[in-house]
Amino acid sequence: MPMLKIFVGTMYGGALDVAEQVKPLFEEAGYEVAILENPTLGDLDAEATDLALFCVSTTGSGDYPGTFASFANAIAEKSPGLGWLRYGLIALGDSSYGETFCGAGRQLDELLAGQGAQRLGERLEVDAMETFMADDAALPWVEEWIESQQLKVA
Ligand SMILES: Cc1cc2nc3c(=O)[nH]c(=O)nc-3n(C[C@H](O)[C@H](O)[C@H](O)COP(=O)(O)O)c2cc1C
Repeated sequence: MPMLKIFVGTMYGGALDVAEQVKPLFEEAGYEVAILENPTLGDLDAEATDLALFCVSTTGSGDYPGTFASFANAIAEKSPGLGWLRYGLIALGDSSYGETFCGAGRQLDELLAGQGAQRLGERLEVDAMETFMADDAALPWVEEWIESQQLKVA
C-alpha cells in the first residue's frame, strides 16, 4: 500500500485536527497514512513516502510554529534535494495579520519548490477570519484534490 505522510505544524491543534479529519479520505483512496506531529528531515525519505500533505499554521509574524521550524530549517540548511516528492499544502492563517497571512505555508511552499519538489494542484489557504473550523474548508478541498489529481490507488 502506498504511504501518504501528513506533516503537521501547529500551535493550538487546528492543523493537527485537519490532518486527523482528512486521514480517512486518504485511507479510502488506498493509502496507508502517517500523521507526523514533530517531523524531522529523516521523515522525508523517498523509499517510504509516496505522497505528502503539509498542514501548517502560521505564528509570530509569518513564522513556522513550534518544532516545525527546526524541520523547515533543516531542509533549508541540508538542502536534501526533493525532486522525487509530490505534495499538497494546506496553510492555516488569519487575514487580520495582513502581509504575513499564511506566511509559514507560503514560505514552506517556496522552500519545497526550491528543492525541486512538485506541488500537485493549488495551495489551500484557510482564513480563520472566514472559516471558524479549518476542517470545513479542508475536507472538501482534499476530496477534490484526490479526484482532480487522480490520486486514488484503490
Ligand atoms: C501569536 C499568533 C501569531 C499569529 N500570526 C499569524 C500570522 O503572522 N499570519 C497568519 O496568517 N496567521 C497568524 N496567526 C493565526 C493562526 O495561524 C491561525 O489562528 C491558525 O488557524 C492557528 O492554527 P493552529 O490551531 O494549527 O495553531 C497567529 C496566531 C497567533 C496566536
